[in-house]
Amino acid sequence: MVLRWLFLVGLGLAEDEDVVSSQSCHFLQTGLGFRKHYPFEREDAEANITVDKEKGICLGHLSQQDLSTPIAELSEAYGEDGWCVYGALGGWIRECAVSRRTHNLSNFLDLFWTGYVYFLNGPQATPYTLTLFDNRTLTIRDHSFPLDDLYCFVNGWYSLDRAAIVGNFSYLEEASEKACKHLEETVPGYFNISFNDFARESDADELLLETLAREGGGFISEDVVKGMRLHAATKCLFRGGGRGAVCDLANCAERGRLGPNNEVLYTVRGECESVWADRPALVGSR
Ligand SMILES: *[C@@H]1O[C@H](CO)[C@@H](O)[C@H](O)[C@H]1NC(C)=O
Ligand SMILES: *[C@@H]1O[C@H](CO)[C@@H](O)[C@H](O)[C@H]1NC(C)=O
Ligand SMILES: *[C@@H]1O[C@H](CO)[C@@H](O)[C@H](O)[C@H]1NC(C)=O
Ligand SMILES: *[C@@H]1O[C@H](CO)[C@@H](O)[C@H](O)[C@H]1NC(C)=O
Ligand SMILES: *[C@@H]1O[C@H](CO)[C@@H](O)[C@H](O)[C@H]1NC(C)=O
Repeated sequence: MVLRWLFLVGLGLAEDEDVVSSQSCHFLQTGLGFRKHYPFEREDAEANITVDKEKGICLGHLSQQDLSTPIAELSEAYGEDGWCVYGALGGWIRECAVSRRTHNLSNFLDLFWTGYVYFLNGPQATPYTLTLFDNRTLTIRDHSFPLDDLYCFVNGWYSLDRAAIVGNFSYLEEASEKACKHLEETVPGYFNISFNDFARESDADELLLETLAREGGGFISEDVVKGMRLHAATKCLFRGGGRGAVCDLANCAERGRLGPNNEVLYTVRGECESVWADRPALVGSR
């Protein structure tokens, strides 16, 4: 519930860019510790929160040293799901730990869907085009957290068998294994990526994408594309590799798919079908 509240506050602030910048809390600098954007709010890692494995929180406290330790190393060090090891850092991590444990993606998808309904509809959701360094284009409508679109696209997660990804957990795990294996072979220093590396990439790339959203589109360098792969590798590594990326694969699949000319068709806009059987009927109904 607290998370929901933070989320709504974040979106409320997003109406006003100036307020947003002054409120954008940087990681670890404030007790509140959430960025303006749902779902990537981050909670204060140095706070001490109650361990509750059922809720996806296996450690109540992560030190600065933990955050700069390779994710693969830290998540292997505990006999728990790596997502749960990092669960204290935010709802988007611990809900994945819960979904992984129950093999029910609803917890994770619900966290995102509520936001998507809100910010991918409405008059502000105008389309704009990103042009990648390799001349591919991508046309999207997300002005609130555009990283999601570029991320799903670059990693090929808008081009999967959507129904099987969301409806068949074994299929999802196999798809994740395959994606993570590929990232392991192509992302430099894969096994050394730390949470802080991920946070740096995520903040810098999201900032750039928000600027492009305001400007009505623009150029995506090879470095930013590499950032999307590092971002994906991080999700793999939360489980030491392999099956770790399941939640994001499923989220991309439910979020939408590619239409003609790489224009993203969004589920919440009714542009493509939902593949999530347990999708709640109304916003805030749960
Ligand atoms: C959390 O607990 C650790 C270890 O007991 C302590 O060093 C740290 O100061 C606590 N942090 C906060 C924010 O209370
Ligand atoms: C998955 O979880 C959701 C939300 O907790 C619940 O409504 C749904 O019934 C669950 N689905 C299955 C197949 O257990
Ligand atoms: C992208 O398009 C430009 C102009 O058509 C061309 O000069 C360049 O070689 C292309 N780059 C790639 C990587 O295909
Ligand atoms: C689910 O996926 C697994 C792995 O790909 C496959 O063997 C199985 O037949 C699928 N189940 C259904 C009901 O499609
Ligand atoms: C990770 O870092 C260690 C120590 O700096 C180095 O020896 C190792 O080669 C690195 N591994 C990768 C995959 O980059």
